[in-house]
Amino acid sequence: WDGPLVDRFGRVHRDLRISLTDKCNLRCTYCMPAEGVQWLDKESLLTTDEIERVASVLARLGIREVRLTGGEPLLRRDLVDVVARLTRLRGPDGPLEVSMTTNAIRLERVMGPLVEAGLARLNISLDTADPERFGRLTRRERFEDVVRGVEAARDSGLRPLKLNAVAMRGVNDDEFCDLLRFAARHEAELRFIEQMPLDAGHTWSRHTMVPGEEILEKLGAEFALEPTGERGASPAEVFTVDGGPTTVGVIASVTAPFCGACDRVRLTADGQLRNCLFAREESDLLSLLRAGCTDEAIAAMLRTCIEGKRAGHGIDEPGFLQPDRPMSAIGG
Ligand code: GTP
Ligand code: 5AD
Ligand code: SF4
Repeated sequence: WDGPLVDRFGRVHRDLRISLTDKCNLRCTYCMPAEGVQWLDKESLLTTDEIERVASVLARLGIREVRLTGGEPLLRRDLVDVVARLTRLRGPDGPLEVSMTTNAIRLERVMGPLVEAGLARLNISLDTADPERFGRLTRRERFEDVVRGVEAARDSGLRPLKLNAVAMRGVNDDEFCDLLRFAARHEAELRFIEQMPLDAGHTWSRHTMVPGEEILEKLGAEFALEPTGERGASPAEVFTVDGGPTTVGVIASVTAPFCGACDRVRLTADGQLRNCLFAREESDLLSLLRAGCTDEAIAAMLRTCIEGKRAGHGIDEPGFLQPDRPMSAIGG
């Protein structure tokens, strides 16, 4: 039952994104309402044993990379244990590479243990380098905590270190160059992200989304950018800044989708498999696991899930439906 995870379009799946919790300590306006959302039941969250079991089966099926996300993964109490257990797993091509996407609040305290547990890299979400603006955008006064987290990540030596900024018209589109300088000071690659229709309030509009082209134009006014040409299955198109070594990326998920090279499958914090961020259906792995299933049954569910994957997200197609669950519940 092992062997590569190939879908109907020939895409080989090598990347598993696991959401460790749907909770977050920020309330970014584009993601969550001020009051938060209805949190998942505690009993429905995957346990560390369950996560390890699923990942071990998927590693045998050719998954090479695991990305831990949330909500905010640092809110998961047993995070270091999760990382330590996952980094010990091996597939046919070697050990799993385990990385994490986080807002970096509380990172400082666990940076050392995470490195020791074998974490490979970190992507940190930061949409503004201005403390006041950060407070308005996230509805929490935690800018200094994030900066300490970014510094801890810089000092950890884990590379490449990436910063993610969702580009938003009228919110942060006047500070792209400042953000890039902030990232460069912290030895990080900044990636600007086109906003996708994934907010809990379903308020996304093309007018507030800043297209990749416009992001590049703004950066081009102050910096000389050269495409590096390296891409693979990465969502970012990367450029050197003023000849390097600093680089900057643009993730144009909406105007230049990278679905044709997609190698991802997702596991939500409550154990649902999704073949796409924008999938209309989920496969209930949680129930299967809790019914005492075999490894073969896990593999079979995953294959069926991947066989049902559509060619792309379909944001531009008539009748496009935003997922029922917000990104914080699906996993970023
Ligand atoms: P790297 O391996 O470091 O390149 O990570 P990544 O860019 O794949 O992951 P990260 O968690 O940093 O996500 C950055 C952004 O990429 C997110 O904000 C999304 O906008 C976008 N993204 C991540 N996963 C997907 C996906 O499965 N589909 C689409 N369309 N966009 C995604
Ligand atoms: N569109 C694009 N990126 C988003 N993120 C959260 N919501 C959206 C959205 N609607 C980003 C976060 C984080 C990453 C995991 O996803 O800022 O960097
Ligand atoms: Fe893959 Fe779906 Fe993301 Fe496209 S939108 S890259 S198909 S997960």
